[in-house]
Amino acid sequence: MGRPVAPTADPVESAEEVHLRPRRLAEFVGQAQLKEHLEIMLEAARRRDQPVDHLLFAGPPGLGKTSLAGIVANEVGAGLRVTSGPALVRAGDLAAVLTNLVEGDVLFVDEIHRLGRAVEEILYPAMEDFQFDIVLGKGPSARTIRLDLPRFTLVGATTRTGLITGPLRDRFGFVARLDYYDPADLEDIIGRSARILDVAIDRDGAAEIARRSRGTPRIANRLLKRVRDFAEVRGDGTVDLGVARRGLELFGVDDLGLDKVDRAILDAVCARFGGGPVGLSTLAVSVGEETDTVEDVYEPFLLQLGLLMRTPRGRVATQQAWDHLGLSAPVLDRPPEPDPLF
Ligand SMILES: Nc1ncnc2c1ncn2[C@@H]1O[C@H](COP(=O)(O)OP(=O)(O)OP(=O)(O)O)[C@@H](O)[C@H]1O
Ligand SMILES: [Mg+2]
Repeated sequence: MGRPVAPTADPVESAEEVHLRPRRLAEFVGQAQLKEHLEIMLEAARRRDQPVDHLLFAGPPGLGKTSLAGIVANEVGAGLRVTSGPALVRAGDLAAVLTNLVEGDVLFVDEIHRLGRAVEEILYPAMEDFQFDIVLGKGPSARTIRLDLPRFTLVGATTRTGLITGPLRDRFGFVARLDYYDPADLEDIIGRSARILDVAIDRDGAAEIARRSRGTPRIANRLLKRVRDFAEVRGDGTVDLGVARRGLELFGVDDLGLDKVDRAILDAVCARFGGGPVGLSTLAVSVGEETDTVEDVYEPFLLQLGLLMRTPRGRVATQQAWDHLGLSAPVLDRPPEPDPLF
């Protein structure tokens, strides 16, 4: 099972992403309610001179979970240690990380929903009591040694809240769900990134990129860079509405912000499977993507736009999807029922 990556995650881009990443809460655009909650928690912890309670950030890729982990560490002046669920395979892996922590450190565990069961269980006392049990030896002579750990803040990130077990979730002092950003916030993010990257852009140009960024800051930044390239090569370097439109079109981003893979998914559901229902794995195979990637990266936005629907029997295209592709929908005698669990 491959790591579900955003359609944008190439190594060069990740390096530039670090450059654009907000470092302080004040630079983090949007998510007003989440920011207020965090601000209060951070300030209270600072006043009590205690580490911040454990935090869990959940939401689709590219919305700022990793950025927030860094911000938490920066705001309280703590060290940041980074690891991920898939990297912590055995108890010993977690032991190595925990025993290296310094009082007050922020331990960021990305993709925490992919922690192994055994590792997760030894994480519980570490989170709750800052204690860690190490089993020495095997069989009847095995002994358990309890280690005291420095007090630390665990920050978990997940693209799948549904896969976090109840006991783990309950051990977080605060669970924050990040939502897709509205175009006004994305416009601010694009303005900020344009200043950092020294790109000349006007309001209409920024608004056009924002509108087509799938509600996702990472994508907004990526599109800004592609449009900047286009402006430099085909124009005078300035990004205005016309340049943004032509640049986005050239790079295959359509009017709703859908890219090639988004459209391939819709096209498969409509043209190949008659509008659905079609199972997720069948759909993933037919567009040549991992099931996880379709579920984590592409589908949430198609659902949000109302182009796709989840039903008990699979994914179904909505009338808007047919319209968007310029196809005519078959006439159904019974409309599909939405999944009551979703
Ligand atoms: N609220 C924000 N304000 C400004 N920039 C943001 C914001 N959120 C995200 N970004 C930008 O988007 C990029 C991606 O964000 P980040 O890496 O934090 O997302 P993520 O949620 O961790 O994604 P993934 O699930 O793929 O790991 C950052 O480098 C940053 O430049
Ligand atoms: Mg991340």
